[in-house]
Amino acid sequence: MIETVGDGRTWLLSGPSSSYALHLADGDTLLHLHWGPRLTAADAEALADRPPAPYRPFESPLDGHEEYPVEGGPRFVRPALSVRTVGVRGTEWRFDTATTDADAGELRLRFLDGPLALTLHYRMRDDTDVVERWITAEHRGPEGAPPVELLRADAATWTLPLRDAWRLSQLHGRWAAETRLVRAPLTYGEKVIGSRRGHTGHQHLPWVALDAEGATEEYGEVYGCALAWSGSWRISVHRLPDGLVQITGGAGHDDSGLVRLAPGDAYVSPVFAALWSDGGFGGASRAWHAWQLAHVIPGAADTRPVLYNSWEATEFAISEEQQRELARRAAGMGIELFVVDDGWFGRRTSDRAGLGDWTPNPDRFPRGLKPLADEVHALGMRFGIWVEPEMVNPDSDLYRAHPDWVQHQPGRTRTEFRHQLVLNLARADVQEYLWEQLDGLLSSAPIDYVKWDFNRCFTDAGWPGDPYPQRLWTEHVHALYGLLDRLRAAHPGVAFESCSGGGGRVDLGILARTDQVWTSDNTDPLDRLAIQHGFSQLHPARVMAAWVTDSPNTQLNGRISSLRFRFVSAMAGVLGVGGDLTRWTDEERDEARGWVALYKEIRPVVQLGELYRLRPPEGGLSAVQYVRGDDTVVLAWLQAQHHGEPPAPLRLRGIDPAAVYACRDTGARHRGSVLIHHGLPTGLRGDLDATVIRLRRC
Ligand code: DGJ
Repeated sequence: MIETVGDGRTWLLSGPSSSYALHLADGDTLLHLHWGPRLTAADAEALADRPPAPYRPFESPLDGHEEYPVEGGPRFVRPALSVRTVGVRGTEWRFDTATTDADAGELRLRFLDGPLALTLHYRMRDDTDVVERWITAEHRGPEGAPPVELLRADAATWTLPLRDAWRLSQLHGRWAAETRLVRAPLTYGEKVIGSRRGHTGHQHLPWVALDAEGATEEYGEVYGCALAWSGSWRISVHRLPDGLVQITGGAGHDDSGLVRLAPGDAYVSPVFAALWSDGGFGGASRAWHAWQLAHVIPGAADTRPVLYNSWEATEFAISEEQQRELARRAAGMGIELFVVDDGWFGRRTSDRAGLGDWTPNPDRFPRGLKPLADEVHALGMRFGIWVEPEMVNPDSDLYRAHPDWVQHQPGRTRTEFRHQLVLNLARADVQEYLWEQLDGLLSSAPIDYVKWDFNRCFTDAGWPGDPYPQRLWTEHVHALYGLLDRLRAAHPGVAFESCSGGGGRVDLGILARTDQVWTSDNTDPLDRLAIQHGFSQLHPARVMAAWVTDSPNTQLNGRISSLRFRFVSAMAGVLGVGGDLTRWTDEERDEARGWVALYKEIRPVVQLGELYRLRPPEGGLSAVQYVRGDDTVVLAWLQAQHHGEPPAPLRLRGIDPAAVYACRDTGARHRGSVLIHHGLPTGLRGDLDATVIRLRRC
C-alpha cells in the first residue's frame, strides 16, 4: 500500500507488518524517514516534522539521512551515484515529479540535472514486507549532446535506524564451499563485499543481514538486503561516525565507469530488494522465501521433480549405451528427470575441447540425442541436458571460425581457465549464434530441462573498438537474461537450472528466469548441511538442488556415510541423485527407491512450506522443520554422539500449541504445546545418523 502523506512530499509504503517512509525536504533533498514496524500516515507526518540533526562543524547534515546520496555537494559518504559529464563531476538534483501506481505498489520519484533524468523506483506489494528499489538514469539531451558517464549507479541506499551497535551477517565461500554464514559486529567504516569476476561468484552471495546484536533465530529485529544481479556487483555497508548505518549496492564493483549514456540512452539498474522482520533470522528467511515463491521464481507453485545427473558417475567418459543403462537404473528408483551432463557434444571428450560446438558428438550419439531422449521418456522420466553457452574452447570449430568473438584485450594474453575463454555476449552476432544453437538443440530432441553452466570468471574482459567504459560487463548479463527469456518463451515446457561450477551464479536476477540452481559441487552430505544452512537464509528449498552421491565421497574428501544420511541431507532441498548407479548394489537401489518415494510424499511441504531452522549445523545435532497446512516435516542429522548422551529433543516451531499431531511413521500422538516447549525426541544415535519425522495435525 502506498500513501502520499501531508503536504504531498512524504510517502509511506506498507506491507503486512512493516512500513517504509521518505520525505522530500527543502532544497529538494530526499530524506529517509522510516523503515521498520508499520506506521500510520500521522506517524509518518510526525517523523517528517522532526527537526534535523544539530549542526556540527566537519560533519555533513545529509550524510546518513538521504535516500540516495550522490556525489557532489556537502556529502562525505560513499555515493550511490557518481556521474561525469564534460568538465564536471557530480550532480545537483532538482525534483521533478512523483507518480504512484497503487495496484502495482509502485512509487516513482523523478529528479533532473541538465540533460540527465534520474528516477528512483520503489515497489512494495501488499502481500510482502519486501521493498524493491531500483533506479533509471536517462540522457534526455538533444542528438549530438555530449555523453554522460555513470561512474557508479547503485540501485539503492538503505538506511537503518540509530542503534547502539549492529551485527552483520553475510554468506561467504569459494568453490565447493559456498554460502557459509558468518556474523560479526559491524565496526565503524565500510565493509564491502562483491564480485569483480563478471558473474555473481562463489565468494559472496549478494545478500547481507543486519541486526542490532540482539536477534536470534526466531526473535528480534532483522534487516536484510539482496541484489538481483548476475554480473559483477558490490554491496557496501557503512557505519558512519555518528553510528548511523547505510547499505548501498548495485551492479559493477568499482567506481571507474559503469555505463556511458549518449542522448536517448537509459540505464536501468538491477533491483536491490530489502526487508525488515521482527521474527528473527528465521522470520526474515520465511519472508524472503514467500516473496520469491510468489513474485520471483517462475512457476514456483509447481514442485520440482527428483532428478538423476550423471556427472559424478561418468565425468567426460560418456556414451549413449552407458547413459541408457544409468537411465534404466534411475527409472527403477523412481527418479523423474534424467540429465546428461557434460561430454555429449562437439569433440568434448575432456575439458580441453568442444565448448561452442553445440551438436551431439557423432561418435557418442551417432543418431543425435533424440533416441536417448525417447528412451528416457519411455522409461517415464523427463530428459535434460547440460550446456555452457557463454564459453568456448580454443580447440573448437566455433573459435577457429570466430577468434574475435571472445572477450579480449588487443595484443594481450587471452587467459584460459579450464582451457576455455568467455564469449563476448554483448555482441549481437554472438547472441544470435547462441540463440540459433540453443533453439536448434531444444527443437532437435524432446528436451525438458537445461542445466546452464558457467565455469570461469571474466579476466581479459575487453572488446576492441568499443569505447570506454565498455558495455560488455553489463551487456553480458542482459544478453544472458535475454537469451534465457527468449528460450523460455519459445520452449515453455523446458525448465532451466543455473549452475556456475556449483553455486557461482545464485542470485535473485538469475532466479527470475531459472527453475532451480545448483547449490555446490560439494555433494558431501555433512559439508552440505552448512552450505544449505547459509543458502536458506535467503533462498527457499524449492530452488536448492541437492544430490545423493557415492560413498566414499569421490569428489572431495572420501568421507564414508550411510545412504540414509546422504538422502536425508539432500531431501532438505530439491532431491537429486548423482552417484554411479552401476556400482550401487541391488539392496542400495532398493533402499534408495524407498527414500525417493518418501521424498515425493513430503516434497510439497519441503519445497513450498515454511522453513524453521531448529538447530544450526554446528557440531552435534542439527535440524530443520517445514510446515505447510496441517503437515510438518522434520529432518534431523546427528554428526557425532558423545558420552552416550541422547541428543536433545527438538523444540518445534510454527505449529498450533492447542492441536494434537500424529507421527505418520509411529502413530504416536503429540500435543502441540509439548512439542513446542519440551520437544520431539529424534531417536538419533552414533555418528552421522539422520531421520525424517512426519507429523500431521489430527
Ligand atoms: C561444473 C558443474 O558444477 C558440475 O556439476 C558439472 O556440470 C561440471 N561443471 C561439468 O563440466
